[in-house]
Amino acid sequence: MSIIAQSSPNIALIKYWGNRDDELRLPAADSLSMVLDFPTVSATVDSSEVLSIRSYDHDGIEKLQTEASVDRLKKHWTLTKKFLRSIGRTQELPEEISITIHSGIPPSIGIASSAAVFSCLAEAYAALVRGKALTREEVSIIGRLGSGSGARNSFGGYVALENHGEGIGSAYGRQIASEEHWMLHDIILVPSREEKKVGSTEGHAKATTSPLFAERIRQIPRRMRECIDAIQRKDFEKLQTVSEEDSLDMHHVMETQNPPLRYLSDATHRIIDDIKTLRDREKLQVLFTMDAGPTVHLICTEDSREAVEAFAGRQKDCIMFKAKTGKSSHLVEK
Ligand code: PMV
Repeated sequence: MSIIAQSSPNIALIKYWGNRDDELRLPAADSLSMVLDFPTVSATVDSSEVLSIRSYDHDGIEKLQTEASVDRLKKHWTLTKKFLRSIGRTQELPEEISITIHSGIPPSIGIASSAAVFSCLAEAYAALVRGKALTREEVSIIGRLGSGSGARNSFGGYVALENHGEGIGSAYGRQIASEEHWMLHDIILVPSREEKKVGSTEGHAKATTSPLFAERIRQIPRRMRECIDAIQRKDFEKLQTVSEEDSLDMHHVMETQNPPLRYLSDATHRIIDDIKTLRDREKLQVLFTMDAGPTVHLICTEDSREAVEAFAGRQKDCIMFKAKTGKSSHLVEK
């Protein structure tokens, strides 16, 4: 029986950086993001005699599996079974599975491709469990076990990843507001398709070596409150202030950890400077934010969309993606 699930990236407004448990991807602090509707990833999962993994890129070309990516998928499956055992739900799971992934997202450039892939697999794995359906929180936990930020795709719209106590199931998503509550656009500018050398899994593990990390953790509860309030009231200026503060702060932590991680490029900084000038001049509602890569996400309201898209279109050396607030990971077929 094939199960097909679909998911997409999310863009963090309050970033997740650093873990209290690297193995279980339990975050050091809460975070919050907007789920996007594009680009999408789909995964087909079947029971199988042996674990088999196939993956295709946005042009439908089969990708060579690196040992590291196979190990990550294997580990996720093992941790998924461990979590399901902890809630008494493993009995009917197949011992091994075959996984086929079709991804429309260029990997490793700051468009959350792993969040999309692992939240998609979480959706499919949850559907393998017979009997009573898993809760959305449980699906979120399974996503988190492959990619911490993937926990924020099991609800639509605006989703917080929050910590609750200890143990494998102690961090999961909560919907702050649905996609219908406030539709925002994310005009994504990719200045370079070069894949990053150090991924976020490795980066999280070194976050505590930054002298700025402890202060970041102290600031997060306030930022979370401000961000949640801004979303609930649809207060764009407040959202802009807190999310830009948090994105730049995360990059300062990354740049001062050991070894330092410099994800932002000259092109990133130029785009930020230019969008600030344009925003002041034309009174646009647009904010910038960057995840683990040079890619700039320009999040804007419907009223400012045209001007932001025109700005993005003028960045001749960048690839542009247009996305907006999207729905949760979901099953396509079972
Ligand atoms: O889920 P991970 O391990 O790929 O970490 C994501 C980290 C950031 O994208 C930089 C921030 C975030 O909250 O998405």
